[in-house]
Amino acid sequence: MEFKPSANSEIDSWKEVTLVYNSALKEVGTKLEILNDEFQHVHRYNPIEHIKSRLKSPESIVKKLKRHGYESTIENMVNFVNDIAGVRVICSFTSDIYQIAEMLSNQSDIKILSVKDYIKFPKPSGYRSYHMIVAVPIFLSDRSADAKVEIQIRTVAMDFWASLEHKINYKFEGNAPVFIKNELIECSKIISELDDRMLSLNEQVLQYNNVLEI
Ligand code: GTP
Ligand code: MG
Repeated sequence: MEFKPSANSEIDSWKEVTLVYNSALKEVGTKLEILNDEFQHVHRYNPIEHIKSRLKSPESIVKKLKRHGYESTIENMVNFVNDIAGVRVICSFTSDIYQIAEMLSNQSDIKILSVKDYIKFPKPSGYRSYHMIVAVPIFLSDRSADAKVEIQIRTVAMDFWASLEHKINYKFEGNAPVFIKNELIECSKIISELDDRMLSLNEQVLQYNNVLEI
């Protein structure tokens, strides 16, 4: 992203950055809503249960920059913090996740900067989710700017696991006892199995409906 010359004070630059990232959240949110509506039109169901979006707080941005050994400058945050704008998409089935990711990738104004598939390759913690860092163009009055957005796509079950695990880790300040960590890994496996069974159940229901319709 480019900024206006240094005539702007740091505060003005901060406000401008916030405005651009906020616009990026709106852009991505609208794109996802349109895809959900179209999916409803074509497949007669909504793959997206709900969408949550957030801007990272200034404190968290500074903490992350520090953790990676960078000074707290606007340039560093724009270059090195990929999750200032974050969107979480909660779907019904694992197959929806890949369809949504694919549909987003096919949009000509979205650049996919990176993908992490923690569903095919779960984290050692048991965390499962599909992550994309994308760049979206934001058109302002006199110029355009690309803004990065982290999109996390996961099923309701994966989200249930992730939010509980996050709370537990917060409680233990990241150092949960091994038996609790192991139990979370077990729960993650159960949730993965549950997602597979729910997907297969849904496919059977769809087939059954097709038979009835013929
Ligand atoms: P962060 O510095 O934490 O943003 O990680 P990263 O830049 O290496 O990216 P990664 O894709 O690993 O994680 C990005 C985000 O995914 C995190 O900020 C969390 O929201 C989520 N996440 C990643 N790992 C876990 C996990 O083990 N448990 C939970 N609950 N969430 C996770
Ligand atoms: Mg993060």
